[in-house]
Amino acid sequence: MFNIHTYPTHPFPDQRAGTSGLRKKTQVFAQPGYLENFVQATLDTLDEDPQRTWRNHTVILGGDGRYHNDEAIRTILGMAAAHGVRRVVVGRAGILSTPAASHLVRLRQARGALILTASHNPAGPEGDFGIKISVSGGAPAPESLTEAIHARSCVLEEYSVATIPEPDLGHPGEYRAGNMTVEVIDSVADYAQLMESLFDFDAIAALIGNQSFRFLYDAMHGATGPYARAILGQRLGAASESMIRTDMLPDFGGEAPDPSLQHAHQLVLSLYDRNPPDFGAASDGDGDRNMILGPGLMVPPGDSLAIIAANADVAPGYRQPLRGIARSMPTSRAADRVAAAKGVPLYETPTGWKFFCNLLEDQRISFCGEESFGTSSSHAREKDGLWAVLFWLNIIAVRRQSVSEILARHWQQYGRDFYLRHDYEGLDLETADTLITRLRDNLGNLPGETVAGERIEKADAFRYVDPVTGETATGHGMRVLFADDSRLVFRLSGTGTAGATLRIYGEKHERDAARHGLPPATVLAKLMHRARLIAAIPELTGREQPSVAVG
Ligand code: G1P
Ligand code: ZN
Repeated sequence: MFNIHTYPTHPFPDQRAGTSGLRKKTQVFAQPGYLENFVQATLDTLDEDPQRTWRNHTVILGGDGRYHNDEAIRTILGMAAAHGVRRVVVGRAGILSTPAASHLVRLRQARGALILTASHNPAGPEGDFGIKISVSGGAPAPESLTEAIHARSCVLEEYSVATIPEPDLGHPGEYRAGNMTVEVIDSVADYAQLMESLFDFDAIAALIGNQSFRFLYDAMHGATGPYARAILGQRLGAASESMIRTDMLPDFGGEAPDPSLQHAHQLVLSLYDRNPPDFGAASDGDGDRNMILGPGLMVPPGDSLAIIAANADVAPGYRQPLRGIARSMPTSRAADRVAAAKGVPLYETPTGWKFFCNLLEDQRISFCGEESFGTSSSHAREKDGLWAVLFWLNIIAVRRQSVSEILARHWQQYGRDFYLRHDYEGLDLETADTLITRLRDNLGNLPGETVAGERIEKADAFRYVDPVTGETATGHGMRVLFADDSRLVFRLSGTGTAGATLRIYGEKHERDAARHGLPPATVLAKLMHRARLIAAIPELTGREQPSVAVG
């Protein structure tokens, strides 16, 4: 039985995808026709370009297993069948981590992927749901595409769904759904093989097998659970006690699956305890973020990127000469120092993974990363949490140094870029808008001014010209540089689902190794105070303190 039903729809003017796809409250997504409207707008928009259309092509489908995943998978399969998609490759039980889905797009030469996730945001009826779109090559949809989808979603009048047999997603196999094939695959196998091709699995297995080395990996009840069990457990021999929360739960156990000091309680307690493991790590709900810990310390993501680039030769997949390195504009300049020392270019891009993808595609960079716990390389077109964990294990195994030794030696050689991020969450949209507009209008007056004892050298609104396409991107934040080379960045979050979040990033380079052990909050206290003055935060928001401090 193969019937196509067409239903009327009406505009959902809020279907504009942000930094990483369309992310909304689950209740918004659960409205009748909401998901359908967005998916139909996506399919129709892609259809306008014969090089992009999904009609008669293969696409990848999966999610991080959060509440509403199954229902969304079923709906999308019906819509794909109605649209004339030839084959949908689905992860078993509808599960694929974001990096694994992106890898499958490349491996299977698929036209793209739909990944159901709101990343590290909490899930459940009161939580968030989301959908990320990948295009051919495995990169997140570029802004031009998400804008076109948004425009389409506002004028769409109907969507079509085929009645298809209930596919059995529990086992790998192939099913017909009208003219479409549903191929259910092992979610982990291809990704695991890719990791094995990049890293020195023998060295890592020897490290893990060594009784004196202990580590703890936290999958946070998200998508990396099965990946960790297969790769760290089965292939590398990690004991099951070395991995926590690897069972996937639709509400992530009621917590935000966010690999941060704030949310990975058990992991953090254990690493900061008296008899800590030598290494700790966590990934987020959809497996693209990572947090790396040593006994009593967290490796700042900006440093992690720099250290991976500086030690790339430990991993067999990275023995060829380093190309360039890219980091998002608010990410610390630690990677710049490695790029300069190695004589390779450093690219400063707007926040959001998609900006790295042209550089990767054009083979200009080997590594890229963001301060928001995202790191990856030319092996993928997404950030990749487990990849970063394996890279660190590979470095530790080959260098035979502890996490703190690796950090200390790196800082000794390059200096330490002290780094801190302050978030002011839940601001009302108008306040946030006023604050940003005022700051932008005042930028020209800042150079030459002295704020709390330090002179401002330069202030600008960041403007990115993509070196590959020549496209210009604006509206991605403002930079203030002081005479002592410390730097502030101001921008609004693009991923929130309630109100506005102002993010302030502060950093300062320190050559003196005697000061490298100081807490960033101490070193950067004055700088963050200057940020509050420059943006008039207490006056405009009524807030004296940020809601979150990361660093
Ligand atoms: C945040 C991070 C950004 C990351 C994005 C998606 O976006 O800051 O680096 O790419 O999540 O994971 P923001 O909320 O700041 O726009
Ligand atoms: Zn994520």
